Amino acid sequence: MATDGQKRMIAVFLTASFLLYSFYLYYAMPFKRDIKNQEASEGKLVWQRYNCNACHQIFGLGGYLGPDLTNEYSLRGHDVIIAFIKSGAPSMPVFHMTEKEMNQLVAFLKDVDRSGRADPRTFTIKSNGTIEQ
Ligand code: HEC
Repeated sequence: MATDGQKRMIAVFLTASFLLYSFYLYYAMPFKRDIKNQEASEGKLVWQRYNCNACHQIFGLGGYLGPDLTNEYSLRGHDVIIAFIKSGAPSMPVFHMTEKEMNQLVAFLKDVDRSGRADPRTFTIKSNGTIEQ
């Protein structure tokens, strides 16, 4: 049986460890706020503001009226994206955006494109069951 003195020592030790570790987490490893691509993060807001996700998917998530746009940037490129925004399509409305908004949106789609492939048909299944993109 631990004496009262030992219990107190343990309680002090645990409290001190907790405080030190909390301090370490919050001050020694600060949340990294460096946004690597400011234009792309503005573009994400444009994507949300005009609700492109109502009809399009990113990595398969979103509405299903239009195609998945995850890899639109590498498949079709900058000019096609701008053309669709400006001219629409039979079941896609015309969007009246500023040049700046369009460039931000394309920067966002470029960033999303870089993050991976969305089409599972392009994945290679390895012998251990994992996939490679
Ligand atoms: C009301 C639904 C709807 C909304 C909202 C919408 N789209 Fe579309 N979009 C479509 C449809 C449907 C197509 C397919 C048109 C076709 O091929 O005839 C399409 C096609 C596209 C294409 C060409 C895809 C390809 O490779 O064939 C791009 C790029 C695109 N949309 C971008 C956008 C962006 C950016 C937004 C948001 C600003 C947006 N769309 C909002 C319905 C929509």
